Amino acid sequence: MAKTQKRAPLAAVVLAAGKGTRMKSGTAKVLHELGGKPLAWYAVRAALDAGAAPVVVVVGHQAAEVEARLRAELPGAPLRFALQAEQKGTAHAVLAARPAMRGVSGPVAILSGDVPLLSAATLRRVVAARGRARAPLALATMALAEPRGYGRVVRDARGRAARIVEEKDASDAERALQEVNAGLYCADAAFLWRSLARVGSANAQGEFYLTDLVAMAAARGGAATVEVDPLEASGVNDREELARAGAVLQRRRASALMKAGVTLEAPERFLCDEGVEVGPDTVVEPDVRLRGATRIGAGCRLGQGSVLADAVLAPGVTVRPYTVIEGPATVGRGAILGPFSRVRPGSELAEGVHVGNFVETKKARLGKGAKANHLAYLGDAVVGAGVNVGAGTITCNYDGEKKHETRIGDGAFIGSDSILVAPIEIGAGAYVAAGSTITKAVPPGALAFGRAQQVTKEGWVARKKAEKARAAGGARPPAR
Ligand code: UD1
Ligand code: CA
Repeated sequence: MAKTQKRAPLAAVVLAAGKGTRMKSGTAKVLHELGGKPLAWYAVRAALDAGAAPVVVVVGHQAAEVEARLRAELPGAPLRFALQAEQKGTAHAVLAARPAMRGVSGPVAILSGDVPLLSAATLRRVVAARGRARAPLALATMALAEPRGYGRVVRDARGRAARIVEEKDASDAERALQEVNAGLYCADAAFLWRSLARVGSANAQGEFYLTDLVAMAAARGGAATVEVDPLEASGVNDREELARAGAVLQRRRASALMKAGVTLEAPERFLCDEGVEVGPDTVVEPDVRLRGATRIGAGCRLGQGSVLADAVLAPGVTVRPYTVIEGPATVGRGAILGPFSRVRPGSELAEGVHVGNFVETKKARLGKGAKANHLAYLGDAVVGAGVNVGAGTITCNYDGEKKHETRIGDGAFIGSDSILVAPIEIGAGAYVAAGSTITKAVPPGALAFGRAQQVTKEGWVARKKAEKARAAGGARPPAR
């Protein structure tokens, strides 16, 4: 978590109870994901980074899921949750936060859960503007050539913000105004609770509008305004806006990585979750996707089309194209994976390991320098240092009911196409002959054959042909 310097106390309310009708989704809008985080995470993160505590999240639609998701993503953060059972408007939503705000007397920042690009710095500007103006309320506004959907800022003859009019309540002249309400506020707590109690719902939507507070503030000391960049304050109301915001976040992350010394061969063809770390001098080829808690060391190469989730790579790892890591998984220094490897949960690949094409590992520990270069399945396995696993080797870890372990000692050699029926142990330095089915332990240094003996019949083909010819009567001329 970014350390925030000491500031005057600030509390925040994040509005996240709405369904998000325009998403046309069975999932609440604020749970839709961007960069691996739910939409509402971004506003909450911005409030925390701006130093707000507590941050009260107003939940309604799928309240339990929204709360669980945010708590899991932000362990230890000063979060509180307030339920707005019925969504009767933004003022009604803030009122629902009141019980959770007991004891808070300073300024209260109010953010929408559907504005993911907002920075903590912008939020702080709004907070500071209210303090400077000694106003009961400050709000962020932005100039939009295409203001459709937003509340318009109506100013008085002296240019001061007088009120906000929602699009559905606006006259033609008001609708032509291009300065809009960005939906980000800072209010004095006493003013906030007193004023919210007076908000009515006599408007086109029959809702309690938080925006009514602007006129109330104008009547008692003024509403301060701060102009913000529309790129930061645009809301996400439908899936196109979700994709657009996702692309902006993606570009920001790509640019931060490049500034930190990572080569992105195609920055616009690279997807990376929030919080992923990549070390300097790592080269990322096109179409790579990094998810979850992935951390890539310095000087790695991530091959085209690879997808890495919850993967921790030491420095100098080479991931050849089209490799999939579904972690948690760790990969040691200098290891080489792929092309086309699949590394599944619980894989721990030590320094210098080679895992090649069409090799799958699951809950498998591969010791230093172990190699499985082609077509193998290593599940529930402990593979020693320097082991060579031949092409086509399979650990039979599942008996239909339980999973069993395969242990292979250091330096063992497993011939191609071997079947290792677990539970089984192959001793250090042992050899397993190619094509073996191994069901009994192999002691260290032993050679084990577990295959049918070969039988060779010399001259068999010619004899067979002669027999056939006799059976056909011998009358026909020999086939040419
Ligand atoms: C709101 C503003 C509008 C502003 C715009 C900026 C009002 C009345 N209008 O409109 O002036 O230009 O934001 O983005 O405030 N929510 C609840 N409970 C409710 C209603 C809404 O929690 O009962 C939440 C929503 O989940 C959402 C946020 O509040 O996160 C904003 O609500 P939304 O319906 O999107 O408001 P807008 O119509 O965008
Ligand atoms: Ca909105």
